Formats: sequence, C-alpha cells, structure tokens
Amino acid sequence: MSDKAILKIGDKEVELPIIRGTLGDPAIDITRLRDLTGHVAYDPSLANTAICKSAITFVDGERGILRYRGIPIDQFIEKPNFVEVAWLLIFGRLPTKEELSRFSAKLTENELLHEGLRLQYQHMPVDAPPMAILSAMLNNLACFHQQLLWVGDEESLEAAAARLISKVRTIAAFAYRRSQGLPFIYPDPHLRYCANFLHMMFSLPYKQYIVSPEVEDALNLLFILHADHEQNCSTMTVRTVGSARANLFASCAAGVCALWGPLHGGANVEVMDMLERIHAGGLTPEECIRMAKDKTNPFRLYGFGHRIYKNYDPRARILKDTCEKVFAQLKVQDPLLDIARKLEELALSDPYFIERRLYPNVDFYSGILLRAIGIPKNMFTVCFAIGRLPGWIAQWREQHEDPTSRIVRPRQVYIGPVEAKYVPMSERTAAT
Ligand code: SDX
Repeated sequence: MSDKAILKIGDKEVELPIIRGTLGDPAIDITRLRDLTGHVAYDPSLANTAICKSAITFVDGERGILRYRGIPIDQFIEKPNFVEVAWLLIFGRLPTKEELSRFSAKLTENELLHEGLRLQYQHMPVDAPPMAILSAMLNNLACFHQQLLWVGDEESLEAAAARLISKVRTIAAFAYRRSQGLPFIYPDPHLRYCANFLHMMFSLPYKQYIVSPEVEDALNLLFILHADHEQNCSTMTVRTVGSARANLFASCAAGVCALWGPLHGGANVEVMDMLERIHAGGLTPEECIRMAKDKTNPFRLYGFGHRIYKNYDPRARILKDTCEKVFAQLKVQDPLLDIARKLEELALSDPYFIERRLYPNVDFYSGILLRAIGIPKNMFTVCFAIGRLPGWIAQWREQHEDPTSRIVRPRQVYIGPVEAKYVPMSERTAAT
C-alpha cells in the first residue's frame, strides 16, 4: 500500500502523504497543498474531503454498515436505551451501571426549563415552526446557563450535555403544547427519558399518558438510530461553529438549523407529505417515480438516496422492521406503510434508481413509526434533532479536545471581476 501520492503540475512534482484510519477510505493529506503548489483543491460539497479524524461513528456506504464507537447499530435493537447510547457516543465507551444511573439522575435534575425560558413561549405564534422554536430555545439556554458557556473539562462537558439532552425534550414538548393550545405538562422525575418526553407531549391535567413498553422501546430505538452519522451536513455545521470556539449551545442550535433542510432531516416531513398525497388520491406511486426521474421536475423521491449509502441504509431496514413489529403489537394498521413499501418496490426495480444506487434512507420509514407513536408530522424533524443531539455533542467535544483543530475557513475559486472602479452616483447608469 502506497504511503504517498505524487501530484504533477506542469514539470513540477510534489509528494503528498497518504493517511489511513482503522477503517474506511485512505486520505491524501493536502494540508500543505497550497504551500507546495500554489494551488487549492476544489470540492464544493466536500463529497471527496475528510474534514477531520474521528473515532465516534463509522459508516460504510458501499456495504450499508453503521457503527457507534465500533458497535454495529443492530446490537442496540434488543434492549434499546437511548441514554446509554448518548453516553457511549459522548464519552467513548459503554457506561458502567453506576455511570449510567448518575447520568440519568443528571438528566432528571435538568429536565425543567428556567421559568424565564418557559414564559417566552407565550410570545410565540401558535403556528411557529417547531424547528425554529427548537433552535431559538437551545441558543437561549446560553442566557440561563452562562456558567456553561465555557466547557473545558469532563465535568463541565457532562453538565452541559445533561442540560441539553434533558431539556431538548421539554423544549420540544412545550412547542407542541403551545401549538395545540394545551397547558404545558411539566416533566415527571419518576419517568425514564422517552416516557417522560411522551408524558409531556400527551398527558392532560388529571389524565396521565401511560406509555406502553412497545412504544417506549420504539422511541428509544428511533432516537438511537438518529444519534450520530459521522460528518453529515448538520454535524459539519456544529463542528464549523464550534471551530470558532463558540459555545456548545450555539453550536447545537446551528445544527438544528441545518437539519431543518428538506434535503437533510426535514426529509422525514417531505416523505410523509408524499405518502399522504398518494393516500388521498392526489398522486399515484407510479407518478411519484416518474416525477422523481424527470429532470425538469423539482420533485424528488424524498427518503431515497444518500451521499454515503450506495446500498440500503441499515437504519431504514431496522425502522421498516420496527414499524411492522409495533403495528402488530399495537394491533394497528397504517395504509401509508403499504404505500411506502409499494414506492420502495417500484424504485428498487427501476433502472434510474438502480443505476444511481438510490435506496431508502433513514427518513423513508421514520415518519410512519413516529405517526404510529402519535407524534404529529410537524414534530418529526424535531424528533430527529432530539436523537441527533448526543452525536452533535460528541463531535463538538472531539473537535474541542483535538489540539490540532483550527477554525474552519475554506478557500474559494474567485470568478468575480478582476478589478473595478467606484462610480459616483451622478455617473451611474443601470449598466454600470
Ligand atoms: C439525511 O449525510 C447524512 O448522513 C445525512 C443523514 C444523517 O443521518 O445525518 O443520513 C440524514 O439527511 C438522509 C437524506 C434525507 N434526504 C432525502 O431523502 C432527500 C432526497 N434525497 C436526495 O435529495 C439526495 O439523495 C441526497 C440529498 C440525500 C443526497 O444528495 P447527493 O449526494 O448530492 O446526490 P445527488 O443529488 O448528486 O444525486 C445523484 C443523482 C442525481 O441524478 P443525476 O444528476 O446523476 O442524473 O441521483 C439523483 C440526482 O438527481 N437523485 C435523486 C434522488 N436522490 C438522488 N433523484 C430522485 N429522487 C431522489 N431522492
């Protein structure tokens, strides 16, 4: 295996080192490319660029593999415990029983919002997008927990992580309650993580929501499957903001904004819109496939395709199986699951999708499971964010503790005017 690449520009040759991780693609180290050649590399969506060395998550897109700290995700299915996986991602190993109960106790301690934060909901429009509220309130935590604006040791990191991971549920549930004109239900310190979130979402005064074990397991698993995914768009955003030494609350709030996009976490809402349109008779699965292939049509088959997975997204496979299991356990049916299966069958047998290696991704079935749990569509991407938060914290921490990390500041290929003159207003025309 070669340990260097030779780059020839004109009659000049330079050697660039090749670095290898424990798994995955080897990388050509171009950190000295400009010094050595006077050239920069061009890779606008960073599809061919490693922006860091990371030990958190490994994705093999060709083989459909996803591992958290080396553990394949299907090993979390049996007894899904989202808090345990959050700890694993952030602290690098599975917690002991004592560590897990201590971290769970910290989450309980931090489940309430400061009353000043809660009162801000009164001024929110009832139809405010929950993702807008989520990013605003996560950033707002910096106002009420200023002692955690600086995170520089394990203790303060754990304190900040506990506040974020615990309060994100309360923030999300309060956004939903506000939108429904319902009284806020405070967190119950006797409930486990997911049960408490569903309690805050669905309990009514004097009518406690009791979560079934099947639903609690399904939500734990759904959050686990969303917990991290190496250097995706929102994680890259968190790292970029964090690279300027911005605080953890601001960095995660920025991650929420990136995740909101329909090409990223917002796709789970787009998938549900698509399935509902088909179910309502406004569209057929065949028309969906045809529109998705039509380059003159902006329509995409949401929930399909992935920058890294050129095989079935392992999360989609688990979510599809979980939908079927939970439906059987709850003795419910959802015609949207049949429609999703039909769309998948049509796409996976269509040359357009086969040639481009487009498969279902994490967003294709997640909405159907959330809907079965009773989560409304406008909260789907918020649930993605709740799941992804530990991953963002873990990646932010890894970057903060990397002594070689520097502020993210890419170069560009400039295509603007070479030089222009300032034209006084009196001499300006539309053409100048
Ligand atoms: C997530 O990166 C992550 O890890 C993200 C994520 C995570 O956990 O963080 O996995 C979560 O964001 C999953 C993706 C959710 N987004 C969607 O489902 C939106 C629909 N998918 C596409 O928009 C697209 O597949 C992306 C955005 C997911 C990936 O975009 P790429 O890598 O830039 O791929 P591309 O647009 O260059 O597509 C390559 C070809 C193009 O056709 P040609 O130009 O070669 O003719 O495939 C086509 C695309 O037009 N294509 C699709 C398609 N996805 C790709 N055509 C129709 N429908 C689609 N869904």
